[in-house]
Amino acid sequence: MAVTDVHPPRSSAGPKRPLREPPGPVGSPFVGVLPALRRDPIQLFLDAWRAHGDVVRLPLAGGRHGYLLAHPDHVRHVLQENHANYRKDPRSNEKLKETLGEGLLTAEGEHWLSQRRLMQPAFHRQRVAAFGTLMTERTLAMLERWEPHARTGAPLDVASEMMRLTFEIIGRAMFGADLRDLAPTVARALAVGLEHTMRRIQAYPDLPPWLPLPDNLRFRRALRDLDQVVYRVIEGRRAVTDAPDDLLSLLLHARDESSGACMDDRQLRDEVMTILLAGHETTAVALTWTWYLLSRHPEVRRRLQAELSAVLGDRPPTVEDLAHLPYTHMVVQEAMRLYPPAWVISRVPLADDAVDGFRLPAGQVVFLSPYVTHRHPAFWENPEGFDPERFAPERSAGRPRYAYFPFGGGPRLCIGNSFALQEAQLILATIARQYQLDLVPGHPVALHPLITLRPRYGMLMTVRRWC
Ligand code: HEM
Repeated sequence: MAVTDVHPPRSSAGPKRPLREPPGPVGSPFVGVLPALRRDPIQLFLDAWRAHGDVVRLPLAGGRHGYLLAHPDHVRHVLQENHANYRKDPRSNEKLKETLGEGLLTAEGEHWLSQRRLMQPAFHRQRVAAFGTLMTERTLAMLERWEPHARTGAPLDVASEMMRLTFEIIGRAMFGADLRDLAPTVARALAVGLEHTMRRIQAYPDLPPWLPLPDNLRFRRALRDLDQVVYRVIEGRRAVTDAPDDLLSLLLHARDESSGACMDDRQLRDEVMTILLAGHETTAVALTWTWYLLSRHPEVRRRLQAELSAVLGDRPPTVEDLAHLPYTHMVVQEAMRLYPPAWVISRVPLADDAVDGFRLPAGQVVFLSPYVTHRHPAFWENPEGFDPERFAPERSAGRPRYAYFPFGGGPRLCIGNSFALQEAQLILATIARQYQLDLVPGHPVALHPLITLRPRYGMLMTVRRWC
């Protein structure tokens, strides 16, 4: 989707009629459903939606309310049609900014728009296609490391393998940097950062981050590690003369239209940090759940293997092959339907709004959850089933655009969506062409909904060559 301008907000949607309060759980005095939200937010969303319908009011702590909207029309209303009446939820955005600063994901208003316009060319289709070889080559290098595991049957944590691989790819693609040796440091720091951010978002009361609590201190150490990686990327680039024409060059050479000034170091740090983290964690999570689903559904895996054998034979895939691998694409789409890496998107209405005759008051938080909407039985037959072919054109016809929104939508649609889709398909095809991954029997699999939907215990799998 093209970047659109920031329009003035539209007043509340729908014809004039008395607005109702949405139904919802009652919750406990003072804290509402916050304990359940902390314990298992996805289960809370699912239960509330199943019990009360497509618009649910959730009492939160301190008299605040959350509004869960599950219908695709409502998602379209908030993200697209009436997006100018919405801002990102300031509470969670502030906590995310403790790590990401004012990067593209957290910035708003004119500042966001100018940064988005500046960065968009780096995500142009042709630019992304040029990263195909890099994506496949790095995957093949990883498979060499897997070879001893394939021979001996020693299991691997596929969640951290995917994280390491996508981190390496994003570093090279966007910043021309070889960050291989830093992958373990980033993985550790990111895990600390995500847990901490989620706890801070759900905290009540909201304590200041400078308190010398163990959690805050651990977070500060993790942030220092992440900052060191980002500054190494930036300093490394400043030291070279023949820099590649990539996102980092774009950021370094950008000039403010009116003042002619270049981006200051803080802004540069925030954009690099945002792309480095948002550009690898989500795709790794998507792939990890894909491997899990394939190991649980041998019939799907066989079809995937058949397509890969027929189209690729004994060579690795290229970007050009992707047009001839429709089933591979559908497997990725279906995995992100069941396990959308960004499982919740939150917004706050600037002025009172309404959907379906229900009031959405200004200042309260609106939750859109791909995890919930992707299971809506009005749009998905057998919603819990893993059925990639539901994305075939004939079965997708008539399905509303926002029945499926793993990358969000409207002006703030994920800037990296083509990059991520291409990368996920190439990695999947490169590995599944030769290897079969199976969950280690007895390994526990559970959701860990942080900012992204991680598997709580990693994903311990055995790998073996099947051809
Ligand atoms: C499967 C992989 C991915 C998923 C599921 C995903 C999901 C999302 C979602 C849902 C949003 C919108 C958030 C909102 O509206 O509040 C978003 C925004 C964003 N994503 Fe992704 N993403 C993925 C991969 C990537 C990659 C590879 C990059 C960078 C290379 C990236 C960079 C960003 C950035 C910078 C934004 C903010 C865009 C803006 O607000 O203008 N993402 N992503």
